[in-house]
Amino acid sequence: MMGRGLLAIEDLEREDIELILETAFHMKEVGRREVKKVPTLRGRTIINLFFESSTRTRTSFEIAGKRLSADVVNFSPSASSLTKRESILDTAKTLDAMDPDAVVIRHNVAGVPKQIADQLAAPVINAGDGAHEHPTQALLDLMTVVEEKGRIDGLTVTIIGDIAHSRVARSNIQAFTKMGAEVRVVGPPTMMPAQVETLGVKAFRSLREAIDGADVVMALRIQLERLAGALFPSVREYSATFGLDRAKLRFAKDDAIVMHPGPVNRGVELSHDLADRRPSVVLDQVRNGVALRMAVLYLLAGQKRAEAQA
Ligand code: CP
Repeated sequence: MMGRGLLAIEDLEREDIELILETAFHMKEVGRREVKKVPTLRGRTIINLFFESSTRTRTSFEIAGKRLSADVVNFSPSASSLTKRESILDTAKTLDAMDPDAVVIRHNVAGVPKQIADQLAAPVINAGDGAHEHPTQALLDLMTVVEEKGRIDGLTVTIIGDIAHSRVARSNIQAFTKMGAEVRVVGPPTMMPAQVETLGVKAFRSLREAIDGADVVMALRIQLERLAGALFPSVREYSATFGLDRAKLRFAKDDAIVMHPGPVNRGVELSHDLADRRPSVVLDQVRNGVALRMAVLYLLAGQKRAEAQA
């Protein structure tokens, strides 16, 4: 069961995912109104606690909270007492003492949201932790595929890129397999986890074979700032072998869609043309991120707070 927080897709049952998606489609309707606001979380407080940069996730959590009439506080680590060496855990407990109804956390170290969640009365939502998980990204990706294809069950989903270091890949592999899709992965051998098949996926060396007959082709962001030259010889070679363009995409199904969590390195993971136009659904993913995060906040911040920790 979803319980008192959302830390990982791994923790969710299929029924939890179905409830979140169903709620998100209701929330999407609110975003289509002229006045995009409902009183559902009036009087509730949500704290965004981002220790790592973000455009999509942080902004969409803020908009989601505001559309539900919650009071949203964006905590800024660089302007906080963290600069006076207050620990992350003490910072989180201090914020929890102000009685928020949910705390959204992103950190570049895997496991930090869970460590904090164990100490807080407020439900914690993982907004991405290191190479571990990014559960709301996977849920908004599911939502986008349901919108496009009407189902997940029986689809073939190919994920391209840095499977070993990607929290988006980890969460999406779990999410799509739990919902009945066949998940394939492909990328440079240096970016493939050992015994990747134990994750329930089919691994490929050839992009053409991996996307053959696929319904959904998802390219992952390559961390050029960290990994170029370390895990692949050159950006040009990566792009030639694993970058997606319309010529390579013709091996997928005729109605296949292209996804990317963003930010896109244009001309690397996706050709410029694919990044902007159908069958790319990159901006639909962003749009659905607001509705999906409204659903998660509604389901979690609407609960009664747990007893505060001693
Ligand atoms: N997809 C994603 O997490 O993007 P941001 O880093 O901009 O939040």
